[in-house]
Amino acid sequence: MYNIIIKTVCVVNIQLKYHRISEIKKEEFLGKEIRIRGWVYRLRRQKDKAFIIMRDDRGGIIQCVVPSSTVQELTIESSLEVQGILFKDERAKEGGYEIRGDDVKIYSLANNDFPIGEYQSTELLLDYRHLTLRTRKMISIAKIRATILEKLRNWFVENDWIEVTTPTLVKSAVEGGSTLFPVKYFKDEAYLSQSAQLYLEALIFSLGPVWTIGPSFRAEKSRTLRHLAEYLHLEAEAPWITMNDLFSIQEKLLIHLIKHVTNERNQELIFLNRDILTLNQITEPFDKLSYSQAIDILCSNDIKIQDGEVTRKIEWGDDLNIDSEKLLTKDSRNPVFVYGYPLQVKPFYVKEDPERQGIALTADLLLPDGFGEVSSGGMREENITLLKSRIKKEGLNMDSYSWYLDLRKYGSVPHGGFGIGIERLVRWIINFEDIKECVLFPRTMARLNP
Ligand code: 4AD
Ligand code: MG
Repeated sequence: MYNIIIKTVCVVNIQLKYHRISEIKKEEFLGKEIRIRGWVYRLRRQKDKAFIIMRDDRGGIIQCVVPSSTVQELTIESSLEVQGILFKDERAKEGGYEIRGDDVKIYSLANNDFPIGEYQSTELLLDYRHLTLRTRKMISIAKIRATILEKLRNWFVENDWIEVTTPTLVKSAVEGGSTLFPVKYFKDEAYLSQSAQLYLEALIFSLGPVWTIGPSFRAEKSRTLRHLAEYLHLEAEAPWITMNDLFSIQEKLLIHLIKHVTNERNQELIFLNRDILTLNQITEPFDKLSYSQAIDILCSNDIKIQDGEVTRKIEWGDDLNIDSEKLLTKDSRNPVFVYGYPLQVKPFYVKEDPERQGIALTADLLLPDGFGEVSSGGMREENITLLKSRIKKEGLNMDSYSWYLDLRKYGSVPHGGFGIGIERLVRWIINFEDIKECVLFPRTMARLNP
């Protein structure tokens, strides 16, 4: 009956038997026969006609007008196919195009109690995240996240870094014992990986600059808007590198990312009300602030920290908290590197500055507008004697690190790297406060489901 010519809209091997909505909202399709598949997003019935706003499997939205008699039982989120002619009609919701059809094919009628509507509490939306993912907000975030991952990978590929994967089940801590997740491992105990760094360090001897992306786990006891129990971690490590190289690599990576994401996900960013201009104004080099300068600024602004039970004024030797990071970045347009932290606030593997006792050769990258830390990185201690004494001092089990110590026995070289939290990056790019919005299925202290 119908003779529909469907353009191949995918470059993968799927020859679609239907149109993608984003592809057909064009003059060239006017008056043509169109077939779309999707779900009922909104529905309004009149006596003769029904107006269905349909969403397809890429979040495209279009109005379809069909005889009311064909959709008597239709409910929100029912799945269906509509076939009809494409018209332009300024009154049509969602971009002035509509499909006028004679018939619909219903795949499955949805229960008429779809729990996601316009005004729901954040908690309810999280409880139903498996369904909330169908909202335009979550579709936009998911697409931006996917493009962020794609562009990060492109940068590493284009710059000749080798991608590797490392274990999730591990024997030892990288970032301190307090946030380890123990798991039963046959008759033994293992932990979920906090960072791939130690494995990346093993790989630089044979692969040179390497990078990885995978989940990291932190049993964070605090409920904050920037901590997840499971997050996606991009880490990179290279031999013969310097602190200046580490600055420059991260600058180039972020600028490349912003340029491409703002270009290719422009619509989604606008939908989320992201001010794209300020993102695009970011330039290299990023600002650099020493830890000591940072502490001076924080002290003169009377920043307080929580020290066990007591709240007291921040002082030299303290780690920076979220309030500190907010204050340090509130007036800056660019991201800010904070370098030269005291050794005591950093993990066992960091290298001490040979010229400044007690100071670590590390830098954290803080994002502007109060978003705070997105990456930590620096030089690694390559001297076995110094490394052993650091492991001992931190009360870690030397045996668990014997393979790591081997790396310093056989041709140790100066090396360094960094780790970026992907959700922290997404959070800033979309300008959302809550990190749970930046991952599809968030894992926090209070949430393991769905
Ligand atoms: O600062 P972190 O703990 O550093 C490391 O793990 C290093 N071993 C990385 C490396 O040098 N290879 O974690 C790196 C980044 C942080 O800057 C932050 O962006 C993110 O990972 N991150 C978290 N993101 C979400 N939820 C959490 N609980 C996070 N903990 C760290
Ligand atoms: Mg850090």
